[in-house]
Amino acid sequence: MRYVTAGESHGPELVAIVEDVPAGLKVSAEQIDYDLSRRQSGYGRGGRMTIERDHARIVSGVRFGRTLGSPVALVVENRDWVNWTERMAADGQPPADLKREVTPRPGHADLVGALRTNTDDCRDILERASARETAARVAAAGIAREFLAELGVEIYSYVVSVGDVAMKEASPADAASYNPMAIETSEMRCPDAAATEAMKQAINRARRAGESLGGTFRVVATGLVPGLGTYAQAKGRLTGQLGAALFSIPAIKGVEFGLGFEAAQLPGSQVHDPILLAGAGFDRASNNAGGLEGGMTSGLPLVVTAAMKPIPTLMTPLSTVNLETLAPEEASKERSDVCAVPAAAVVAEAEVAFVLASAYQEAFGGTCMADIRRNLEQYKGRLRAFAR
Ligand SMILES: Cc1cc2nc3c(=O)[nH]c(=O)nc-3n(C[C@H](O)[C@H](O)[C@H](O)COP(=O)(O)O)c2cc1C
Repeated sequence: MRYVTAGESHGPELVAIVEDVPAGLKVSAEQIDYDLSRRQSGYGRGGRMTIERDHARIVSGVRFGRTLGSPVALVVENRDWVNWTERMAADGQPPADLKREVTPRPGHADLVGALRTNTDDCRDILERASARETAARVAAAGIAREFLAELGVEIYSYVVSVGDVAMKEASPADAASYNPMAIETSEMRCPDAAATEAMKQAINRARRAGESLGGTFRVVATGLVPGLGTYAQAKGRLTGQLGAALFSIPAIKGVEFGLGFEAAQLPGSQVHDPILLAGAGFDRASNNAGGLEGGMTSGLPLVVTAAMKPIPTLMTPLSTVNLETLAPEEASKERSDVCAVPAAAVVAEAEVAFVLASAYQEAFGGTCMADIRRNLEQYKGRLRAFAR
């Protein structure tokens, strides 16, 4: 299962097409809209989020609430389009008073994109490079998430830190023990109430100073069977696929699995997860590996942490060079988030969902849900028999 998206930040709409969707999967537009609203949430967001109320319209591939096995196309309208019809028109000539974006923002695609595509209006770049595109990813991932939920896999995320404010956790393995409701009711999507408050204060201070903040978040997937992915080919390793998927999100600059970088400072005996025989199968004494061994799922929760850089659009702008005059100037200001770590975590759930859904299809088939369910049950039965 994979997706492509199209659409500009201030164009009429965003479009996502999901390919290789099995037939017979229940799809709920309401559930997709719930995830879209989670992507729009979080303290520290900019004015755009008060304009948009994202809603996904399914325009192909679903009939009477079930997938047909054909591509699923989804459309998310940009409400802000009404304010941009002339400036973002697909045809005709630019309006005489068009303000061109000639002062590229450091940390954005503005300058390098302009050089690459031979334009001196950075709007040609920033409209697509904007993280508004991630709304289409979240809509598309609704299909992958429903698929995984039918197979017993749930995905959630939470914010660990914003700037230098972090919640306290004994170990990243704690990640699998939080109540998702405690996360979704926090304005920072953080299960720790005191840390939520401290993060909000840090964002208030940053906003007053014309600054921005980044942070870290974790994505957790539970209910995974062991053995998804492979050790046999470089491209088949789930570790690499998940890393690439998370690094595809704008502003993500680091990804760690389980103990992550901390493991590099510890002796092996304190890192690797001892194997136990428990009940009807194998278990582990810990989950420092974050649910992956040898490029495959271990059967324990997947725990992956990502670091987001501070938002690059600054209300106290950095210096840049004017592309028309080549004179030094302040970088342009777009309406912008001060902090978008809670939203990025929801986008990361979407990326993880696609990687895991594809891994399940690779292992258990991809044509129709009845076959996939049967193949999965057979596999689980074989695993149970193995440990007897
Ligand atoms: C959910 C989300 C929201 C974002 N919101 C903004 C924003 O409001 N303003 C901004 O300048 N950058 C924002 N960013 C970050 C930029 O999109 C990103 O830094 C930029 O496209 C350059 O890509 P790079 O950081 O990967 O180099 C956001 C990123 C994400 C994931």
